[in-house]
Amino acid sequence: MPLWEGRFKKNIDTKTNDFNSSISFDFRMYKQDIQGSIAHAKMLSKQGIIDKVEAEKIVCELNKIMYDINDGILKIDQEAEDIHMFVEAELTKRLGDTGKRLHTARSRNDQVALDLRMNLKEEITTLIKLLKGLIKELLQKAEENVETVMPGYTHLQRAQPITFAHHLLAYVEMFIRDINRLEDTYKRTNVMPLGSCALATTTYNIDREFVKEELGFYNVTQNSLDGVSDRDFVIELASNISIIMMHLSRISEEIIMWCSWEFKFIELDDAFSTGSSIMPQKKNPDIAELIRGKTGRVYGDLITLLTMMKGIPLAYNKDMQEDKEAIFDSIDTVKICMETLSPLLKTMKIFKENMKKAALNGFINATDCADYLVKKGLPFRKAYKIVGQIVSFCIENNITLDEMTIEQYKSFDNNFNDDIYSEISLEKCVSNRNVIGGPSPVQVRKRIEELKEIY
Ligand code: ARG
Repeated sequence: MPLWEGRFKKNIDTKTNDFNSSISFDFRMYKQDIQGSIAHAKMLSKQGIIDKVEAEKIVCELNKIMYDINDGILKIDQEAEDIHMFVEAELTKRLGDTGKRLHTARSRNDQVALDLRMNLKEEITTLIKLLKGLIKELLQKAEENVETVMPGYTHLQRAQPITFAHHLLAYVEMFIRDINRLEDTYKRTNVMPLGSCALATTTYNIDREFVKEELGFYNVTQNSLDGVSDRDFVIELASNISIIMMHLSRISEEIIMWCSWEFKFIELDDAFSTGSSIMPQKKNPDIAELIRGKTGRVYGDLITLLTMMKGIPLAYNKDMQEDKEAIFDSIDTVKICMETLSPLLKTMKIFKENMKKAALNGFINATDCADYLVKKGLPFRKAYKIVGQIVSFCIENNITLDEMTIEQYKSFDNNFNDDIYSEISLEKCVSNRNVIGGPSPVQVRKRIEELKEIY
């Protein structure tokens, strides 16, 4: 018979039990569940709510249960309703009536909120570590490519010359913001809900601050209804992860393009590519495609959580059990994506020459050509128009700006002199953009150095 056999006359229907149970996914919080119970038992004992000797037995046995699960000696019973019931039932099996004292002044409602907060705090820490790893790889690659000129794009049309390092550093900035967001969410996750009990706290003289200290939380929740029914921290994390996935997806998309023969800016290592079952020549960027694809399911998890929460009255409702599968799926997905992307970036080959070749075509130094005339005194709009005509002339004659003779230049405007050639060389176009945030090697090296101090 179930825990609530006093009220019930029948066992739960088998299929309904499966439907109702969360053990298949909340077992992964067993450590936090046990740690939370240990802190709770210590508090009950300190406050004289349960006997000291019994409390010691409970703490000792809970530790044993944890070791036994760790070692695989104790198997999680998939028939149990959830991890909280499983641990309590095991404790009672081992200690009899003493085990039955643990759940005093507590409910599974505050227990699950506690477990989840503890679990997600750990996960957030891991995600930050993984992001830092990714940043390290990008900084390494950037450092090797400070002078590697490539076209910068807008509308996927060649626009202005930049360097590969500058391009990679854009992703570093995104991942830094991702870390900041996670750190911020951590603060709001770091609040201890135990003591809210089912919804309205308890009549026992509990010490919530003590439990908070024992479990390393920063604060305690300030309203018991909110304490058991707040899942903002889960949604925040899911939204942070969605943004990370969006960033991972963008870089994946670029990797996919760069691998194509149309670009051939990079080649992925064999260990991070796949072949085709029919086309012998193929080398496919499946990993990057999968990251891009998995972004969709993580967005789905976020929508699951938002929708699940939007219509439920205070306080706890069973709908909220759905939070775990969604957030755990997001976490597992983003982790594997980052773990795979890091070595993929580390081992990819970079074809600097192809980047340079692409940069030489497409008139990406046209802005610089116009700026040349502006520096000679022309208004920008006038210079812009002249260079537009020059580009049109070049296209008709199938030449680049560098291939124009000085006479040809002069036929468009008399201000052109021999120094135009050095002014529109790609290297100069890049190094001239020497403002904070710009692609010039001076600026990029400075930013890399700053970031290497931190990451
Ligand atoms: N397994 C439940 C969950 O994940 C634990 C809380 C159950 N509380 C309840 N009153 N049925 O949400």
